[in-house]
Amino acid sequence: MIEKRISEIISNLSLEEKVGQLNLTGRSPVGGADVTITDMEQMLQMGKISQEEFDSALQDVTIDSQEDDVAAGKIGGFLGYIKPNIIRHLQQIAVEKSKSGIPLIMGLDVIHGLKTVFPIPLAESCSFDDELFEQTAAAAAKESWNIGIDWTYAPMIDIARDSRWGRIAEGAGQDTYLASRYAAAKVRGFQGDDLSKNGNIASCAKHYVAYGACEGGVDYDAVDMSLQKLWNVYMPPFKSAVEAGAVSVMTAFNDLNGIPCTANSYLLKDVLKTQFDFDGVIVSDSMSVEECVAHGYAVDRKDAAGKCIDAGLDMDMHSRCFIDHLCELVREGTISEEVIDEAVRRVLRLKFRLGLFDNPYRDINAVNDPVLAENNRKLAHRAARESIVLLKNNGVLPLLKKKKIAVVGSLADMPYQMIGTWAREDLAIKPVTLFEGINGRTECRYFLDVSEFEAQKENFDFVVVAVGENRAESGEAASRAYIGLSEEDKKLIEIVKQTGKKIITVLFNGRPLAIPEVVEASDAVIEAWHLGLEAGSAIADVIFGDYNPSGRLTVEFPNRSGQTPIYYNHLKTGKPARDFKFSARYQDTSYSPLFPFGYGLSYTEYKYSDLSVVVNEDNITVGVTVKNTGDMDGTEIVQLYIQDVVGSIVRPVKELKGYKRVELATNEEKRVEFIIKKSELCFYDNELNYVVESGEFKLWIGHDSTATLCSEFIL
Ligand code: BGC
Repeated sequence: MIEKRISEIISNLSLEEKVGQLNLTGRSPVGGADVTITDMEQMLQMGKISQEEFDSALQDVTIDSQEDDVAAGKIGGFLGYIKPNIIRHLQQIAVEKSKSGIPLIMGLDVIHGLKTVFPIPLAESCSFDDELFEQTAAAAAKESWNIGIDWTYAPMIDIARDSRWGRIAEGAGQDTYLASRYAAAKVRGFQGDDLSKNGNIASCAKHYVAYGACEGGVDYDAVDMSLQKLWNVYMPPFKSAVEAGAVSVMTAFNDLNGIPCTANSYLLKDVLKTQFDFDGVIVSDSMSVEECVAHGYAVDRKDAAGKCIDAGLDMDMHSRCFIDHLCELVREGTISEEVIDEAVRRVLRLKFRLGLFDNPYRDINAVNDPVLAENNRKLAHRAARESIVLLKNNGVLPLLKKKKIAVVGSLADMPYQMIGTWAREDLAIKPVTLFEGINGRTECRYFLDVSEFEAQKENFDFVVVAVGENRAESGEAASRAYIGLSEEDKKLIEIVKQTGKKIITVLFNGRPLAIPEVVEASDAVIEAWHLGLEAGSAIADVIFGDYNPSGRLTVEFPNRSGQTPIYYNHLKTGKPARDFKFSARYQDTSYSPLFPFGYGLSYTEYKYSDLSVVVNEDNITVGVTVKNTGDMDGTEIVQLYIQDVVGSIVRPVKELKGYKRVELATNEEKRVEFIIKKSELCFYDNELNYVVESGEFKLWIGHDSTATLCSEFIL
């Protein structure tokens, strides 16, 4: 039915109007601001105004210079507007003034919340909580829908093994299995069961593909890898997102094996559209069509437009190469009009799925929904608690008795640093800081100047030290060669250490940090990432024992910057790392990570016993008894790893194949069961056959990736 309507619409469009649908443009506001946009851009470049000030100034203007283009049907959608009245105004032009009346699609990067900011994705992934992944996406979708947004550019599902890459903050970490479950949950959350229902928005799985494997962790750099590695490690989250119903996919900036992903017909046509049977929209990343010229893969912008559309790209974000050149390319016979029609069909299908043809103006009455705001705040609190990972505790935590606490470190009281890499200061509700969180519960003083604390140290029992990264230090274009602490933060810890007080270090960061000295110097270390709205309250819950920490690392922490990439599921080597020179290791640091994958402490102890493994026709059933043997209720994240002992190609030393959050009161025990389908043991061999090979498998179950409770089975 819809397909028929789409065909009818396409048959009535001119070539120009068709190409217009493929043009996703940014804001270009002109009216209402005191200075011109060009002047503002210059001021931004010269550092006279911040990116935030620039963005917020642009949001206040009311007229977009492209309004005539909207009326002429030359624009398919906008990215970046957040004011409902402007969104409505532009939509009215498209629907009421353009000849075709096709509504615009309104996009925005809503990655970890809009007004209610949730923990950054890397943090949230540490909860190992699929239900949470889904709920925070659904909450963000509702808030976005309420201001007129149809389409988010999330989830980001790039596997990131190299912590130098700043964008590690935006995804679910280094594990393919976890990221695949995360991908599906996020798609379900954003899109709901019916995209056209109020409160649901389109998701966009990005960045397709292998963006996190950029050489040396340098953002935007080249990626060259075997196809079996691509398929075994980087592709599964995208397959999972598509299977969960993701209606769009964004291409990555990088090239893959010499061909920019945005112009890569193997990736876009052969894999995504044919093999995965994906019928949604493939959109470029910002400017990545034009960047084919800088890659040296296209002669000029026109050549880039032709190569990308021919490779299977549907929509051009920001570069205007499509709108400037596709008509010409069709008229001269370089590109067939059917190729354009196919891309237009996909864009219109997305607009139909969103219900835009029936209800282009959406219901923006619900903008300030107090119930939604209250529920989302509660969800943000839960998400922040579950994302925290307790890295060290020599017994100081939890602080159950009243203590006098000094708080130091600038990050301890900077609310908007808590919103992390993608959230927007102009929209985010002001977060609770660490100092505010602690101050509500006990006698506490915040010292911005550490020397003042030194002078009064006798008045305090404990020092909470906030160190790490501000929110701009991770995320896009934030790669770093050195991932230790800044000299300033190191000095701070040194000064506090000299006071002889007990130190609780709280880390705010968007990537694993190489900080063995800090761990050594501290009595307790809390990994708090950038936790969003309820950051301070959630950390205080952990400090005072109102919440028993349950988060586990989804990326390994290196001992030194040079030890990254470091990941638990590396391939087996002929000389496995050990205390011996001629083995796969650096000579100047440990061969183990500072903290392994899956690691995280709790205030209680969990005991594992009675591991059972039964091999059935189609699956393997694994059971284990887990008991809370300590004196605090808690949630254990039970993790299951396997090893395919001998393969036709070299296989990883270990791979996560199951996890479950299990709530256990003190002394309670539960039988936990996993059913692993045999197909989940498949891998891609060097001919890209997806096979499960018979032979021996090892299996571990326990608290983290170093679990020792072990069994084996034969397939
Ligand atoms: C980023 C994308 C983002 C896009 C639009 C790009 O620079 O790589 O992740 O969705 O901008 O804002």
